[in-house]
Amino acid sequence: MKLVFMSHEDKASLWREWLGKEMPGLQFLQWPGEVEDKAGIDYALVWKPEKGLLRTFPDLKAIFSLGAGVDHLFSDPELPEGVPVVRLVDRALTQGMTEYVLYWTIHYHRRMADYLRQAEDGVWQQHLQADTKFRRVGILGLGELGGDAARKLASLGFDVAGWSRGPKEIEGVTCHHCGEGLPAFLARTEILICLLPLTEETRGIVNAETLSHLPDQAYVINCARGPHVVDADLLAALDSGRLAAATLDVFHAEPLPADHPYWNHPKVTVTPHMASLTVPSSAAEYVAENIRRVERGEAPRNIVDPSKGY
Ligand code: NAP
Ligand code: GLV
Repeated sequence: MKLVFMSHEDKASLWREWLGKEMPGLQFLQWPGEVEDKAGIDYALVWKPEKGLLRTFPDLKAIFSLGAGVDHLFSDPELPEGVPVVRLVDRALTQGMTEYVLYWTIHYHRRMADYLRQAEDGVWQQHLQADTKFRRVGILGLGELGGDAARKLASLGFDVAGWSRGPKEIEGVTCHHCGEGLPAFLARTEILICLLPLTEETRGIVNAETLSHLPDQAYVINCARGPHVVDADLLAALDSGRLAAATLDVFHAEPLPADHPYWNHPKVTVTPHMASLTVPSSAAEYVAENIRRVERGEAPRNIVDPSKGY
């Protein structure tokens, strides 16, 4: 069995080590240097491969995304048809995202930016402490990542709602769905977290219209994809004083260009697409298990539905 690894961002040496432990018989070939013949390669493990490249591997049985998002694959007009695309659903990835969401939610909820500023200035001042029970957090997307974050926030006592495409039931979380459910979800959301996949339906979903439904002084945390947000609309809402602050992990262009207004905006915190990075020691287990399934003639888990794009 042969697997080709393509990524400029993930560490091939770690993947070689961890996949090797899981599957000693698997030949791990790093693209492009180690691939002499594209024929006979069974699996591709990829992050942002060059457009049109995967089509040139004639024998692929499955394409594994190195991340949860698969927009980097479905933006390829030549993505080979009939080869299952498998997204990453992984313990450490989910844990990392939930940590990020909890961290920033608590940061805003407990006014940590104010306290950090005060500490720098040597100011001793307490602010009224908000009641967690009445802090309304809203998550766009209730899938693997949004669902876990919603459950953990609810277990900490936050008033959590979520929004998904189809109806959902999550204990302790008020679930809204589809276009009709969106305005009511937004109107009650003081801390908005985006954990949607990027598709034609969700592109630009955080815009002037949707932001106008949020209560005054709401916060926005985008840890999904940059193009979910219409940057000019978010900046206008922050500058007008309607929104309190935003934490943004993902951007239309990455790395975020040095002259982008987000960098120096007093109400914006930029993180470098690190909300949850793929951890090979854990994700290799998932990829290996899926390869074993294919080799047994079973379908891999978490195949993407191309008609939905996620
Ligand atoms: P997932 O399990 O596929 O969940 C997606 C959720 O979004 C589902 O609840 C789905 O609704 C909902 N959704 C999709 N299209 C929708 C629409 N048009 N209207 C309403 N809801 C819609 O995905 P995931 O594993 O949670 O990952 C989510 C995204 O996080 C990824 O696609 C990726 O872009 C991003 N991500 C970012 C980082 C980072 O470091 N910044 C790391 C990992 C992932 P249904 O449940 O009804 O289908
Ligand atoms: C990261 O952005 C991912 O999709 O896993």
